[in-house]
Amino acid sequence: MQVNLKIRRYNPEREDGVYWQTYSLDVPSQFTVLDALMKIREEIDGSLALRCSCRSAICGSCSMRVDGHAKLACKTKLNVLTEEGGEISVEPMGNLPVIKDLVTDMQPFWDKVRQVEPWLQAEGPAPEREYRVPNEAMVHLTDVMNCIMCGACVSDCTVLEAELKYGKPYDQTFIAPAALAKAYRFVADPRDDQQRERLKKLSEPSGVYDCTHCFECVEVCPKGVAPMDRILKMRELAVEAGITDKAGVRHAKAAEQSIKASGRNYELTFYPKSVGLFNVKELLPAMPTGLAFVRKAGTRFLLPHKAENVQKIQRVFKKVGKRNKENPNTEGQA
Ligand code: FES
Repeated sequence: MQVNLKIRRYNPEREDGVYWQTYSLDVPSQFTVLDALMKIREEIDGSLALRCSCRSAICGSCSMRVDGHAKLACKTKLNVLTEEGGEISVEPMGNLPVIKDLVTDMQPFWDKVRQVEPWLQAEGPAPEREYRVPNEAMVHLTDVMNCIMCGACVSDCTVLEAELKYGKPYDQTFIAPAALAKAYRFVADPRDDQQRERLKKLSEPSGVYDCTHCFECVEVCPKGVAPMDRILKMRELAVEAGITDKAGVRHAKAAEQSIKASGRNYELTFYPKSVGLFNVKELLPAMPTGLAFVRKAGTRFLLPHKAENVQKIQRVFKKVGKRNKENPNTEGQA
């Protein structure tokens, strides 16, 4: 098939910085994006930099953005993406510094993984021979253990993207989906004795409550790890463990109270209730954002106002409350 690969290139030694280059190829239709990139590097342009190893969706090294979303290049077939004569865009992963062309610096990724202490921390003397746990206690961890650390979820995480845009470049604080999924692997491991300590740390700012549930990490994960689901599960576990005096929990409660009462988020009290009404240290830096919001949205939001059909919303709350009472295992699920 005839296909055009439009590649985002970057060479730190060139002065023109980032530029796009299109290569036209005639390749077998079952070729993957990685096959095509390797053909370019071997036969057309030896200066193209990319990273790969297993070519079998196992090692996680060939993650890149294909047509705008993170994918494993070795698992993505050209004929699934386009038809004869079509164009496919290929970029390096997002949210990570680019070293050259499609190669990103994974150091920030590994720093975050290290931050969650991804090793078993059991108290007491080690067992004489081995830890023994029932199958049912571990089987639910198999999906999360499938993670190959490819970084696709980090590449497309919208929280990191916002931090990158408005914060310091590549100094994002959000622990991010891959490391949080890894944290869950140990939080939920029956052999680990630090569950409460781990959950306490993960409930701090930059942890589980910073996720905005955009589902992007679930969509792009090539191994079905579903990091967002693990993040939400850790929130539940933290609340069950009594770790509730946290901005994230207050934030959720403030939203619940406001929506229950009026069907809307009452913006004037929402943030102060989340960080603490007298938390001047947090409130002062947020003032410029609040003022910008007033300038943009007007003063309408300063007065509480009810949504139309607020009774309908209240009925949903009643229904969910009743269901949670009858079946506490569904608590937290809308
Ligand atoms: S080369 Fe190993 S996952 Fe693609």
